Amino acid sequence: MSEQRRLIIRGGRRIEGEIRVQGAKNSALPLLAATVLCKGQTELYNCPRLSDCDAACRILTALGCTCRRENNVVCTDASALKSSEISEKLMREMRSSIIFMGALIGRCGQCRLSFPGGCEIGTRPIDFHLDAFRRMGAKIREEHGCIVCTAAKLRGTVITFPVPSVGATENVMLAAVLAEGVTEIHNAAREPEICDLAAFLNKCGARINGAGTGTIQIEGVKRLDGCRFTVMPDRIAAATYLCCGAITRGEVLLTHADIQSLEPVIPVLEQIGCSVYGFGGGSVYLNARKTLKAPAHIRTAPYPGFPTDAQPPLMALCATLPGTTMFSETIFENRYRHVSELTRLGARIKVEGRVAVVEGVDRLSGAELEAGDLRGGAAMVTAGLFAEGITRIGHVCYIERGYEDIEGCLRSVGADIHYGS
Ligand code: UD1
Repeated sequence: MSEQRRLIIRGGRRIEGEIRVQGAKNSALPLLAATVLCKGQTELYNCPRLSDCDAACRILTALGCTCRRENNVVCTDASALKSSEISEKLMREMRSSIIFMGALIGRCGQCRLSFPGGCEIGTRPIDFHLDAFRRMGAKIREEHGCIVCTAAKLRGTVITFPVPSVGATENVMLAAVLAEGVTEIHNAAREPEICDLAAFLNKCGARINGAGTGTIQIEGVKRLDGCRFTVMPDRIAAATYLCCGAITRGEVLLTHADIQSLEPVIPVLEQIGCSVYGFGGGSVYLNARKTLKAPAHIRTAPYPGFPTDAQPPLMALCATLPGTTMFSETIFENRYRHVSELTRLGARIKVEGRVAVVEGVDRLSGAELEAGDLRGGAAMVTAGLFAEGITRIGHVCYIERGYEDIEGCLRSVGADIHYGS
């Protein structure tokens, strides 16, 4: 059982070496959902081997699609799609299962699914998704804890989100590509994963403009075919490994990374005192063999702001830097679940609502920790690399939802980390 496995880290080793960045989880999941819309075979390259991606593949199979994985290539074919229902068990496996809703309504004009599961980092409502589908002509009702959606015909319309939502923007794109007329999304999320989804759908025959800006236009088309597509590099895994390099005052060369998508993160690492250089061909080099200091204020915000997903590993780093950092978490209200665990290692962090104040200390000491969510778990790994003695992290299944072979990656650059019980 993965629940009983632990990551065991003996901290204090400097990280030095090269890490190949995995494909982006947050791009692969909507892309897998998008394949529901395609009549014909799709080949997704650089698809990370993660439990969340496996869950998405199980949903595709349950819907009647073929879905095969060979290493990091996933081949799907939705030509024989036979169902528009997702069972509660499959929905609960991950939050992103809600992304299948737009694809199923777009393809079948109906769907039935239960409320999604996932990390508990806040209430994570889906009202923007449902309101947008209603505006496009869908009828939605709740029945015995399930969302039942029917739409004889989906029509393009103007949708304005109160705040940019990554999932809702993706869901509307998926519903709109085969809808009648033009859909315009205002206050759309601008995350790089939105651009990846638009590029994929356009390659399949969709007409989407403006992805990466606050306004996206989608002109409905009659059909989408499959295509071959390479999932973008994971900017959050990349940011995590840069934090791991920095916390050990080491040197890391990331390969297969996307430096542009790391633009909100790199200036923070530079402000801390790390040297960071990007090379062509997706390499990013970080050197932290120098005196580092705490950044004064980190505020998470929608892209191009500092990503909420990189906040926990950065907080672990800041907990070891001279000076005080104030974190303001503006996206999810419950994203400080890692704080109590970091304090067990000796970190000095106080949380008040959405603000966390981190006072750097010069030593942490290993302890028994439990991961409570994906990025919080990554923060514990990051801190464990610095802490003296042994840190054991339980509930590694959370970490494995988003990091492909984190143990192997960190071990290959000199960390003392292994699985045990
Ligand atoms: C996605 C990412 C997640 C990341 C988050 C923010 C995936 C699979 N997950 O999550 O890793 O942390 O973006 O960058 O890509 N909101 C509502 N109503 C809604 C939808 C969202 O109020 O219907 C609010 C949320 O509570 C949150 C904010 O909007 O405060 C942004 O959330 P959103 O961008 O939707 O996050 P996810 O798509 O769930």
